[in-house]
Amino acid sequence: MGPVPKLDERARACARRLSESEEVLLAAHIDADGLTSGAIASTALARAGIAHEVVFKKQLDEGEIESIGARRQETVLFTDFGSGQLDAISEHARAGDFVPVIADHHQPADATTKYHLNPLLAGIDGASELSGAGASYLLARALAEIAGADDSTEPSETNCDLAALAVVGAVGDMQAVDGELVGSNRAIVTEGVEAGVLEEGTDLALYGKQTRPLPKLLEYASEVRIPGISNDEQGAVAFLESLDVELKAEGSWRRWAALSAEEKRTVASALLQHALERGVPAAKAESLIGTTYTLTGEPRGTELRDASEFSTLLNATARYERADVGLAVCLGNRREELDRARRLLENHRRNLSAGIEHVKSTGVEQESNIQWFDADGEIRETIVGIVAGMALGVDGVDPDRPIVAFAEKDDEETKISARGTAGLVARGLDLAAVMTDASGAVDGDGGGHDIAAGGTIPAGSEEAFLERVDALVGEQLGG
Ligand code: C5P
Ligand code: C5P
Ligand code: ZN
Repeated sequence: MGPVPKLDERARACARRLSESEEVLLAAHIDADGLTSGAIASTALARAGIAHEVVFKKQLDEGEIESIGARRQETVLFTDFGSGQLDAISEHARAGDFVPVIADHHQPADATTKYHLNPLLAGIDGASELSGAGASYLLARALAEIAGADDSTEPSETNCDLAALAVVGAVGDMQAVDGELVGSNRAIVTEGVEAGVLEEGTDLALYGKQTRPLPKLLEYASEVRIPGISNDEQGAVAFLESLDVELKAEGSWRRWAALSAEEKRTVASALLQHALERGVPAAKAESLIGTTYTLTGEPRGTELRDASEFSTLLNATARYERADVGLAVCLGNRREELDRARRLLENHRRNLSAGIEHVKSTGVEQESNIQWFDADGEIRETIVGIVAGMALGVDGVDPDRPIVAFAEKDDEETKISARGTAGLVARGLDLAAVMTDASGAVDGDGGGHDIAAGGTIPAGSEEAFLERVDALVGEQLGG
């Protein structure tokens, strides 16, 4: 039995179909979760001796599904997308173009299909309890089971070693609730820990623990703004120097990951204290400490050792048309590909901070129930969603209102991204429903999750689209 019993039967049916296929075309989405879902599925297929080819798609629209159909592959495995496009996919299935197998976590469209693994079909939340990589992992576990692996065999035979990538995918999709993976994701963490590929710990919840020099780790921390330290190089250095901790080794700044447990405790508690003294609310200050997921098989001091840094590295490849680089890194190629990924990461970081600067300088427009901004050609459509999510923490942006962002895709189409918060979802917000409806109303298409969704609309229809979004959100939130 797999780690998520409620999805066992679906996982087995999908795995059986794949193992009966001569050849499989594997199609996956271009973000951290999509890449890891693709890497997990590809590894599991290879281990099961199933021939396959992997392709990545920015978006699975009708044209892309058409081109997949034209490849005349017997079986097409979709990971981290497919559920939202079931209407179009099942038309191709009916026409005999291919047999679809779907491992996804997005809100499904109305049509149904035989081989469909999605947490939402079993009452499991697809935005916080299982990611695309997680769904792919369940499939991998079922494939191993069919091949005769049982709990006494090696993690590489049960596919439990792939839990590490599943966790990178879930963290990359921001599925951690208050810093911690929950629900089905938890069950996957447990398997990864048992397989010896993951370690779960309580640690400083800042990005860059493996790779950033200590002062930079604190200075750049955007998760919690700490007066006198955040965005303040001298402040960060002064704070560290006030502590009884060796800050340099061989003349250069140490990294957090190289500190001893006691040194980490010293810095963390002083940081918490400092934040509280400078008026950071207790709940916010406490979020400086959280659950971290370490990939124990990866070298210390590299992005790959920390699930959060690993996922950002992957986003930096696939969202810039270099999914091949990210996939190679996931599959264990750590030579030129890793160097290439790191260069892409530098570029990605620059783009994210320029994107945030754009939002800060232009500000957001307020409607009755939502707020929005236009990327004005300054933010790539593949990262505008990430920027929209980050914008909810920026001065001048209401952190408790849904935010919508527009980015130019080409002359004919506009990309949209929408982000909400857990609090808004608890009050009834469902952005997947809003994006599906409002984009459909202007001849576009959209979908996603309750808390984060996106779509594409014809250029020029932005105003009508916004009006509809505003009205729908108003209805969901009760006026
Ligand atoms: O396509 P996919 O499902 O992989 O993307 C999920 C998106 O939703 C990510 O961009 C992620 O950052 C966003 N998300 C979010 N807040 C959450 C959960 C997901 O912004 N709590
Ligand atoms: O592109 P963005 O990051 O804003 O996407 C947010 C969520 O909406 C992702 O999970 C993405 O897969 C989903 N989405 C979708 N259909 C689209 C565009 C985005 O399901 N046309
Ligand atoms: Zn995903």
